[in-house]
Amino acid sequence: MRHLGLGLVLILGTSALVGCGGQEAAAPAPDAASAPAPDLAPPMVSAVANLQAGEGGTVSGRVTFDQPSEGGPVTVVASILGGPPGSHGLHIHEVGDCSAADFTSSGGHFNPAGVPHGGPMDAERHSGDLGNIEINEDGMGSLSLTSDLITLAAGQPTSIGGRAVILHEGADDLESQPTGAAGGRIACGVIASAS
Ligand code: CU
Ligand code: ZN
Repeated sequence: MRHLGLGLVLILGTSALVGCGGQEAAAPAPDAASAPAPDLAPPMVSAVANLQAGEGGTVSGRVTFDQPSEGGPVTVVASILGGPPGSHGLHIHEVGDCSAADFTSSGGHFNPAGVPHGGPMDAERHSGDLGNIEINEDGMGSLSLTSDLITLAAGQPTSIGGRAVILHEGADDLESQPTGAAGGRIACGVIASAS
């Protein structure tokens, strides 16, 4: 019995060594795989807002925000389902609070620079002005744009984490002050980290 026990210990010891050897041999693989990193897109930081309808509404949506981790323009992609056909204002509002039935708890347009409301292509516009999303007869709509007036980094005047995205009942005319006369708020979602 004593010999058998020793044999088992030796076998276990040998297999443990083999196991270690295998891991060491495999270790360089990730380094080799990451070698071409300079050719790849830079690492991104991501956030998402899932839009939900107010009482009795059927619209829902998703807005994603992606930004290179070292900073730079934020790519905004919105998609809507079950919405009323037509042009609808889409904005980032200041307060990430969708608790009120009419979503007025989300405050006004996110406007850290204190400038007039405008369209997404205007040099002077609220940071939250994303313009309009076109919703088709099937209730679906999508919008894609980039913005250099917002950031996913925390603690900056233009930080959008924890704020709200609001979809409006009507079209944003891109000029009326201070909201583009886009009417009521039909969906709301809070911007949360997705990284
Ligand atoms: Cu709005
Ligand atoms: Zn605005």
